[in-house]
Amino acid sequence: LAPGGWLRPAGSPLTVFAHRGASSAAPENTLDSDEIARRGGAEWIENDVQPSKDGVPYVLHDDTVDRTTNGKGRIRDLTAAQLDALDAGSWFGPTYAGARVPSLAAQLEDLRTRGGNLLLEIKGAHTRDEVARIVKEIRDHGMTGRVFVQSFEVDALRYTRELAPELPLGLLRGGLDADPVAISKELGLSAYNPADGALAARLGVVKDLHAAGVAVNVWTVDSAARWKALEAAGVDGIITNRPAELAGWNSAW
Ligand code: G3P
Ligand code: CA
Repeated sequence: LAPGGWLRPAGSPLTVFAHRGASSAAPENTLDSDEIARRGGAEWIENDVQPSKDGVPYVLHDDTVDRTTNGKGRIRDLTAAQLDALDAGSWFGPTYAGARVPSLAAQLEDLRTRGGNLLLEIKGAHTRDEVARIVKEIRDHGMTGRVFVQSFEVDALRYTRELAPELPLGLLRGGLDADPVAISKELGLSAYNPADGALAARLGVVKDLHAAGVAVNVWTVDSAARWKALEAAGVDGIITNRPAELAGWNSAW
């Protein structure tokens, strides 16, 4: 897309990014939560990626598997075979017993065949080689053009830009930079993705970023009152745990 191609045209609905899939309805970052998000009308699914001990990218939010699986330990201390053996669904409810921690390859293949786009968060510090492996998976699955990469990690974004200039980049921020436009230009961003609370204090940056051709996607926003306020402020997309509700709200106004 040309610079500015990710901006929401006036009068069109907010882009729906399903945070960790439909994570209020199904176990986060699993193919089940992706499927529910897709059925609920989300165009984009947000997932987190980190490497296993043997360097295979997997979809998991925390740096340990303790909270969201029946296993224990840091993802970076567990092999792909160990991760494949985990149950990532029972903690959420018996309906999801047996859900897996998806490898990025499995997740990309699922999206490629069943539909949907991926907002892929490179979670935590990554080496250049680890980013190269993520880029390889995206290319091997023919998903360039359907993946938007985001990260809190500036180095991970720099590596991605160097290795795969075709991938659009978003910078996640819990607090706003002094000059969001300057860092967006420096990193070659297509989107600047702030926390809702951080943006609320300085809504004027939305116009500044748009003037520079940079979209603004806000996280993690689950209430209709905030969707309304952010839509009025001109933001482009919302990262939400309630994607079906946001898609419904979008089509109702
Ligand atoms: O996409 C924004 C959001 O995912 C960042 O926070 O902790 O849920 O990865 P976290
Ligand atoms: Ca995330």
